[in-house]
Amino acid sequence: MGKVLVVYYSLTGNTKMIAETIVEAINSDVLELKPVKELDAESGMRYFWGGFQATMKKKPKLEEFDINPLGYNLIILGTPVWAWTFSPPIRSFLKKYDLTKKNIALWVCAQGDGIKAMDRFKDALKDANIIGEVRFQEPKQNTPENAKERAVVWANEIIQKINN
Ligand SMILES: Cc1cc2nc3c(=O)[nH]c(=O)nc-3n(C[C@H](O)[C@H](O)[C@H](O)COP(=O)(O)O)c2cc1C
Repeated sequence: MGKVLVVYYSLTGNTKMIAETIVEAINSDVLELKPVKELDAESGMRYFWGGFQATMKKKPKLEEFDINPLGYNLIILGTPVWAWTFSPPIRSFLKKYDLTKKNIALWVCAQGDGIKAMDRFKDALKDANIIGEVRFQEPKQNTPENAKERAVVWANEIIQKINN
């Protein structure tokens, strides 16, 4: 199967919950992206500043990490939806690594349906080999057990595709 890496960003824990569920289910490596300057997750202003960053396609500086994502056979990428698109830390990640022809699977967490954001996410990765996608609606608040189960089923489907 080769090596699998889960890469994600999460401000308020939804994307993190899904990431941890997938990592446990398929026993992959994991990389949590952390911007050097993080928003205050408790502040109402986060919508304003986060929305601004996302709309302006900002690429915040990330804290350093010593994993090389290009050494993996499959990267499963997860993000919250910010202003109808993927989050700025993910944009920083996509700028840093050329994922052309890489096997990629995508998930988003959103308050709404996340459809538009998923389209934009896929568009940003159009040179990659996208083998799976899934959307979650506030999984931490809404029926977390159900969301975790969907995540496990989805992750296993992706692994099967890679193996075939
Ligand atoms: C700055 C900001 C902008 C957001 N914009 C949207 C949006 O456009 N559409 C949407 O459905 N949800 C939006 N949300 C809600 C988040 O996508 C949702 O709460 C998600 O589950 C958060 O993931 P996290 O807990 O991993 O950070 C926004 C949240 C923030 C903080």
